[in-house]
Amino acid sequence: MSATVLGLDIGTSAVKAVLVDGRGVAVAEASAPVATSRPRPLWSEQDPEDWWRAVEAAVADLARAAPDAWRGVAAIGLSGQMHGAVLLGADDRPLRPVILWNDGRAHAECAALTRDHPGLAAIVGVKPMPGFTAPKLAWLARHEPGVFAAIRCVLLPKDYVRLKLSGLRATDMSDAAGSWLLDEARRAWSPQAAAAVGLDPATLPALVEGSEPAGTLRAAVAERWGLAPGIPLAGGAGDAAAGAVGIGAVAPGDAFVSLGTSGQLFAVTDGYRPAPDSMVHAFAHALPGLWYQMGAMLTGASALAWAAGLLGRTPAGLASEAEAVPEGASDLLFLPYLTGERTPHDDPDARGVLFGLEPGSDAGRVGRAVMEGVAYTFADAAAALRSAGTEPAAFGFVGGGARSDFWARLLAAVLARPMIRYRGADKGPAFGAAALARMALTGASPGDIARKPPVETVFEPDPRLIDRHAPRVERFRTLYRALAPEFKAARA
Ligand code: XUL
Repeated sequence: MSATVLGLDIGTSAVKAVLVDGRGVAVAEASAPVATSRPRPLWSEQDPEDWWRAVEAAVADLARAAPDAWRGVAAIGLSGQMHGAVLLGADDRPLRPVILWNDGRAHAECAALTRDHPGLAAIVGVKPMPGFTAPKLAWLARHEPGVFAAIRCVLLPKDYVRLKLSGLRATDMSDAAGSWLLDEARRAWSPQAAAAVGLDPATLPALVEGSEPAGTLRAAVAERWGLAPGIPLAGGAGDAAAGAVGIGAVAPGDAFVSLGTSGQLFAVTDGYRPAPDSMVHAFAHALPGLWYQMGAMLTGASALAWAAGLLGRTPAGLASEAEAVPEGASDLLFLPYLTGERTPHDDPDARGVLFGLEPGSDAGRVGRAVMEGVAYTFADAAAALRSAGTEPAAFGFVGGGARSDFWARLLAAVLARPMIRYRGADKGPAFGAAALARMALTGASPGDIARKPPVETVFEPDPRLIDRHAPRVERFRTLYRALAPEFKAARA
């Protein structure tokens, strides 16, 4: 049997690890939670040492669960939450907690970048928005100048784990793409973008394609983990692109919806197709010669988890109560902007809203409104993608939210497109990271490794549901427009 590979995803709510055998089958999975702190309004931070502790815990579980496969691990692939600013000093230690992708503090810096460098957005893939790495660096230069001056290396989250595993400072194109520092068309760091935020380009890591080797496992880690020293690490990918590789979305035209902590509408393109005004992200994919366009929503399936926690339910329990509410029995609307929104609003101040509560608004009705509200953000994302010239014929469906048939039917109606759920659709980015590890190990082509899994279910759009939701999507949009000035006023 050919070798096993390990995929590690440094997610926002958990580190996930998967062992994949030579047939592309996931033989064992493990995860360990990671905490987020929100010390001030708009802030969202994590301690990178927590990621490392979670990696150690997850791999220990994997080694226990599948000892034979574990001993055969011959390569490691990394994936992770995008955009985080991991700032290392001269001793390679983090200078401060990591400022995450859903942190909204850098809004003033984004306004200044838009004003002073209007041409950059078309080079780095999208307008500056607060979650991206570069605007957060500009915020640090202003608010924590001592930290900014001490920066010797800027890494993305998964690449901090690479540094711990291999000692190499490197990132892949798809994760670099989300930094607002990559010249997306050239697949090289943009000196203009670095200069715009006063960053020394020498602090940026080496760039590789996701399927190329980037680092080898240190002897000390290998010994502790019971693996062979020197096994290769792949460049890997940001979680959006890793999820794409995991379901074989590696050809122009492939598109999917991802419902994890965040939500993404992702479409592979053969060239770099920027459309900065639409707030669509045009980024380098993890494989050479490919790019993608993405609507990025800051709240995905995590809205259901939030509501379930509040109502004393499990997410699955609340989802089935939501599904049991008869169609048309509730007019509740939910704006799911718990941490602001990127596509299409570019609004860090937006917040969640439950609109239209009445005495009969029970848990099921609230749960339904929450799931519908998340689906409606995809209608906005699809409109943004359309304005960027992309209109996919169908969408794959991945991430934890993809376990729900109800959400799949809702999305099919809201997007008026078939939703295709593949077998193992909830496996997520760690599985794609493992596929990249296999390519780095064997040199096999993406077409041989990143194949589409067998289709499990196709959810065709139901005309009755299209008719029911189309006017509700319009009311959802009107509600946001009406409240946008209030969100701003609330911050001020
Ligand atoms: C994508 C994005 C999120 C994070 C966390 O732009 O911000 O998807 O990668 O999952």
